Amino acid sequence: MVSNREPYIHTREPGGSVAWTATTGGVAVALDALLRERGGIWIAHGAGDADRLVVDSHDHVRVPPDAPAYTLKRIWLSAEDEGRYYGGFANEGLWPTCHIAHVRPIYRSEDWEAYRSVNTRFAEAISAELTEATAPVFIQDYHLALVASELRRRRPEARTAQFWHIPWPHPDRLRICPWRKEIMSGLLANDLLAFQLERDRRNFLQCVREDLPAAVERSVVTMDGHATHVVSAPIGVDYDRITSIATDRSLEAETARLRRELRLDAPGVEIVGVGVDRLDYTKGIPERLAAIDRLLTRHPELRGRLAFVQVGVPSRTKLESYEAIEHEIDVLVAEINRRHGDGQDAGPIRYRKSALKIRRLVALYRLANFCIVSSLHDGMNLVAKEFVAARTDEEGVLVLSEMTGAAQELTDAMIINPYDVDGFASAIRRAIDMPVEERRRRMRAMRRVVAGHDVFVWASDILEGLERMTPRPRRVRGPEVTRPPRPFPPFRAAPAISDARR
Ligand code: F6P
Repeated sequence: MVSNREPYIHTREPGGSVAWTATTGGVAVALDALLRERGGIWIAHGAGDADRLVVDSHDHVRVPPDAPAYTLKRIWLSAEDEGRYYGGFANEGLWPTCHIAHVRPIYRSEDWEAYRSVNTRFAEAISAELTEATAPVFIQDYHLALVASELRRRRPEARTAQFWHIPWPHPDRLRICPWRKEIMSGLLANDLLAFQLERDRRNFLQCVREDLPAAVERSVVTMDGHATHVVSAPIGVDYDRITSIATDRSLEAETARLRRELRLDAPGVEIVGVGVDRLDYTKGIPERLAAIDRLLTRHPELRGRLAFVQVGVPSRTKLESYEAIEHEIDVLVAEINRRHGDGQDAGPIRYRKSALKIRRLVALYRLANFCIVSSLHDGMNLVAKEFVAARTDEEGVLVLSEMTGAAQELTDAMIINPYDVDGFASAIRRAIDMPVEERRRRMRAMRRVVAGHDVFVWASDILEGLERMTPRPRRVRGPEVTRPPRPFPPFRAAPAISDARR
């Protein structure tokens, strides 16, 4: 496994001791579950200030630290490289290019150089760890688009799959990126390239057709004698783990604690909504707050009865665009609480600016009457799937933006357009008033979808797909010899949910 973000981070405590934390966030949690089950090596950037203190001479540390199941190999980056490769090229360039959220992408050639050199460092590290030449290498996301091609130079026989977690843009939009051809050629060094949705896959193939000297035949792209299977495979969550946390008796105490901490036990509070997001401009948090504001203005009888818990996890805080969205949300929360509070309490929005560990998160999902995911654009959004997985009681309503990948699968959610403030406010009202039979019917249907396509099914689809593919052609003297690619096997259909998993 190869990703920018590491699954466990070590930090120095004020007294000098070293503490560790698991990275929160749907993708990290889902991939960690996979490695805990399958074993292997995870290569990632060591970003913690005590990360170097706990690794061995190969920069390895066994994780999870309290129950070791696999090896984490850390890559060290200078602050400047991190700023340019991660902050600059990946997050000020590619991220706003791939998400339609109206933030202007910034491309600097210094950032591009750093991106290339950091991707090469990752490839060198993989090459050093590949004791078995054809062991599957699974690369994650937009930070590492050049890793497969750099690895291929060093280990031509390597077998790689890459998953692109975020949307792939339309050709008209990708044209913004001055290095788009290099990015696409880098991705095409993989044997298998997977996107969340069929429309991302279509966009990618269209961009390839327009920009590269490649042959595209159905799902196979051939360039420079190398064939890449391009597929769509929506990511899932660790459904069984979430349901087992949700049904654990001790969760009740956690839920009660949360209720107290968030003042959800205040007199009069009857309806609780939740939103859980990284503080990112793609997540549509201002739009969500505007809809709640509109709802409380239209229905003043809900004041004091409705509390909305917004968990905002600070993210990419060194970037101006992220500082700006964090500030905008602070101001909006304060305004709405002033407008709709009774002067005694702090108002309807309970805003917590920190990450929650998985047990607390599940407890929060369980105490909510509804959950809002209102992204302006999102590759998938695993909060939506986590909320559904947590609701073993078949209760709770999901209000979901049609701009998320998840909306393609969770069609029984209340689908909203985050730009339509009136429609959005009405959907929240409907969620609050929804009859119990309808709530249960919708939740049951969504649970079937989430259970049937969890993170393990997703990973097996990709990794087994990679394993079943024709061994890659060797370079020979004279003209390049390639075998015709075999058709990619169809993805497994989602199995019906069993009673035990309900
Ligand atoms: O959604 C894309 C993604 O890279 C996820 O894989 C990850 O959970 C999230 O963004 C977090 O981003 P960062 O690593 O910048 O905190």
